[in-house]
Amino acid sequence: MEKEFDVIVIGGGPGGYVCAIRASQLGLKTACVESRGSLGGTCLNVGCIPSKSLLNLSENFHKAKKDFNQQGIEISDIKLNINKMMSNKEKSIQTLTKGVEFLFKKNKVTYLKGKGVIFTKNDVVVYDKLKRQNYKTKHIVIATGSSVSSIPGINIDEKNIVSSTGALSLNKVPKKMVVIGGGYIGLEMGSVWSRLGTEVTVVEYLDHITPGMDREISKEFQKILSKQGIKFILNSKVSSVKDKKDSVVIEYENKNTKKKETIDADKVLVAVGRKPYTEDLNLSKVGITKDEKGRVVVNNKLQTTINNIYAIGDVIKGPMLAHKAEEEGIAVAEILAGQAGHVNYDVIPGVIYTSPEVASVGKTEEQLKSENINYKVGKFPFIANSRAKVNNETEGFVKILADSKTDKVLGVHIIGPHCGDMIAEMALAMEFGASAEDIARTCHAHPTHTEAIKEAALAVDKRPIHF
Ligand code: NAI
Repeated sequence: MEKEFDVIVIGGGPGGYVCAIRASQLGLKTACVESRGSLGGTCLNVGCIPSKSLLNLSENFHKAKKDFNQQGIEISDIKLNINKMMSNKEKSIQTLTKGVEFLFKKNKVTYLKGKGVIFTKNDVVVYDKLKRQNYKTKHIVIATGSSVSSIPGINIDEKNIVSSTGALSLNKVPKKMVVIGGGYIGLEMGSVWSRLGTEVTVVEYLDHITPGMDREISKEFQKILSKQGIKFILNSKVSSVKDKKDSVVIEYENKNTKKKETIDADKVLVAVGRKPYTEDLNLSKVGITKDEKGRVVVNNKLQTTINNIYAIGDVIKGPMLAHKAEEEGIAVAEILAGQAGHVNYDVIPGVIYTSPEVASVGKTEEQLKSENINYKVGKFPFIANSRAKVNNETEGFVKILADSKTDKVLGVHIIGPHCGDMIAEMALAMEFGASAEDIARTCHAHPTHTEAIKEAALAVDKRPIHF
């Protein structure tokens, strides 16, 4: 086997595997080290992909139970087979992770199984059980991702106290679940189990859910989730979680009143964020600097403090999103091949795959205010969109923020049906520097949900047609 490479990528998640494929396409002799035993990282194995499988299946179950009868589709005796649902999810994971292995073969990327350690700036050692193998390389890309954060004193055992990994593999629908943290993971997984019949309560530290999201959207989101049956306890810090084996007792303190209360559940999901994963990489020995949050410090070329070592994805600053990592992976591969790799951090979409979905790209209204940027707002509700109406999916709205002088689109925030797909149009528009008028003058097919985008763009200039 080959022992010398132009580039060794450590980590086979969306950042790492995409980087390796692109580097190989550009003629660099490339290897990718992965210790998990399967490619695709957190995203494909225990994150985005399995959660989307369960979100889709649980939504189907919920719709069949709650909506179908009223819509003239009369089925009785709808039963949940949780084992089948989980094996369906497992099959999707298998297909996709094997797919990445196939792509490695097709693109001539060497797949090194084991744990990669940076020995010197040009040497990577791969440990696989008791075997140790040395490899020489001109460049290294750190793409080791992130791991689950917890709260001091809380032991995530993936039994009664679970992280997203455990919450994706429960073999029984819990009666009661407490979710600590009202962010992406808490709300997606909370939605899955709520639709399958669990009584879900979210305890959130802040006075609102989904920090960083446009506040108007966040408020609407909470309202919709509450209507679906999810309970919220805001302004509350979880101070302890005690596992009594047949139940778990969660103690939380109200930040304002300092009053302590308890709540019990069968399962507790800890979803308070993720932290960069750099364990055993040997970073400080080779002289790679990390910041106060444990993230690898990189310059605008994604280069670490050692100039032939790069870092991408969750392990560096920026949103912990698979598609952000992929963009960085491609940029680094192109930089290494002598091209001008670049990531536009102003246009990274974010999606929460609940029902309805929530999607955004660009600046929030709060950011524009704090940056003293004058803006115009155009909004359009899905209740006035014909396709949403016939599909009985009328919750939510589109909100477009445009510069008051130039009309350039600065941010788009949507809560509503299929907006996770619709946001791509807005990312493209922003990438091309579109104005709200450009969007308003673009012909959108009728009847589609995308017409709500056109109408919101028209509303920026106070001239929507259907509202
Ligand atoms: P998050 O950062 O989205 O949310 C964590 C929440 O926990 C925050 O609202 C925070 O205020 C709250 N919190 C922190 N400490 C607390 C305490 N002691 N008591 C109560 N609340 C507390 O993190 P999350 O949901 O764990 O997701 C991790 C990462 O994974 C995120 O960066 C996200 O971008 C990514 N992700 C993305 C998804 C997507 O793109 N759809 C899906 C799932 C995860």
